[in-house]
Amino acid sequence: MTENSSTTARAQIGVTGLAVMGSNIARNFARHGHTVALHNRSVAKTDALIAEHGGDGDFVRTETVEEFVAALQKPRRVLIMVKAGDATDSVIEELASAMEPGDIIIDGGNALYTDTIRREAALRARGLHFVGAGISGGEEGALNGPSIMPGGPKESYESLGPLLESVAAQVDGTPCCTHIGPDGAGHFVKMVHNGIEYADMQLIGEAYHLFRDALGLDAGQIADVFAEWNTGTLESYLIEITAEVLRQKDAATGQALVDVIVDAAEQKGTGRWTVKSALDLGVPVTGIAEAVFARALSGSRAQRAAAQAQGLAAGTLGDKPTDAAQFTEDIRAALYASKIVAYAQGFDQIAAGSAEYNWDLKPADLATIWRGGCIIRAQFLNRIKDAYEENPDLPSLILAPYFRESIEAGIDSWRRVVATATMLGIPVPGFASSLSYYDGLRAERLPAALTQGQRDFFGAHTYERTDRPGKFHTLWSGDRSEVQA
Ligand code: 6PG
Repeated sequence: MTENSSTTARAQIGVTGLAVMGSNIARNFARHGHTVALHNRSVAKTDALIAEHGGDGDFVRTETVEEFVAALQKPRRVLIMVKAGDATDSVIEELASAMEPGDIIIDGGNALYTDTIRREAALRARGLHFVGAGISGGEEGALNGPSIMPGGPKESYESLGPLLESVAAQVDGTPCCTHIGPDGAGHFVKMVHNGIEYADMQLIGEAYHLFRDALGLDAGQIADVFAEWNTGTLESYLIEITAEVLRQKDAATGQALVDVIVDAAEQKGTGRWTVKSALDLGVPVTGIAEAVFARALSGSRAQRAAAQAQGLAAGTLGDKPTDAAQFTEDIRAALYASKIVAYAQGFDQIAAGSAEYNWDLKPADLATIWRGGCIIRAQFLNRIKDAYEENPDLPSLILAPYFRESIEAGIDSWRRVVATATMLGIPVPGFASSLSYYDGLRAERLPAALTQGQRDFFGAHTYERTDRPGKFHTLWSGDRSEVQA
């Protein structure tokens, strides 16, 4: 049923911005029995949605922002689904001017969390609630159940939560949606989710690269391995779709589609934001950073072409593995261990962000709502949930018994994969940097002692001693005796 907005304020939620994500989430609300007011800058999109999917439920068609706002029950709830950036500010301003204190504006785009913090403060000063909500799951998730990460004032969640939870993915009867924390917390968590997504995709890419170039398998054969892996501990959405992408044939050439796609990965920016934020917070998210840089290297097409044209030397290469079954198992173990490292680092960043902004983020809750709906949904998020439920103050996910044992069981495989890839000249920045991170974490003595000595030498930056407290400085250009700083 669809009505024009001239009627009373009866919609429980309004959605503005009706591109695919916005349309799909509007339909999802309608399918769950909510009356949805629709608004879009050009009314053609609103009409198209109603013409094609009006049967999904109860929609209220509106043309102007005033009509749109008037169609909503109080407190009014409006979900903005526009491309993140400047457009968001102007849409917020238009809505805010037409709304009243107590009303709620939800930004469901991939906004930068610092923008969300700024917007929340500005709207709070005007008596409005602003909820930055990360929404993951792509177009299909928006329609059938995404993972939703709403931040903003806790009190707004009281009226908004049940609505969002009703359209979110459900795992074992638990919705993949919970109040994340104040102001920018929801978008911060979504950002780190995307950083982990980048790392996960890069690691899968490296596994594929090794199958192709170390074992000489074709796309179809590699698809079979991923499909098989999806029945075990690696079971996840990204592993599942990897098999599907690898199986896809190109209609024009008859080749595997993956073999005709240009090997230059693009990015819209959330992975880069994750790394920038991690640098500011001082958290070594090496797996995520390598994934962002690997996309950048793949996209440096002119440089790569120049390097290939000059035939840069590979050095003396090693032999390809002869035991394909063993090497396949090695890659699986390397992938799982590196994936654990990427998640451990992402959760470290979440802990650091929580401390920096006083968000009181609950890692077990995040693992719970990432189990379904989102791009990184995976069976092993149940394990992460269990680990943080058992010990919310885990120093590192790697130290939770299940993860520690999983890594230790595959450690030799992991080393063989990195060593073999290196000897074959196959780049594995994700596998290698994750292994180095792991070795760094467990090392008894890091070379940082030398770094401290050097810093003290050239800049009198001081160092601490292993045998007594305090800061010390050696008089490097004097008699080289030590003084307490
Ligand atoms: C999700 C995705 C989604 C989007 C990414 C793609 O959680 O549903 O992360 O937000 O597909 O932003 O990011 P890139 O274009 O940067 O790969």
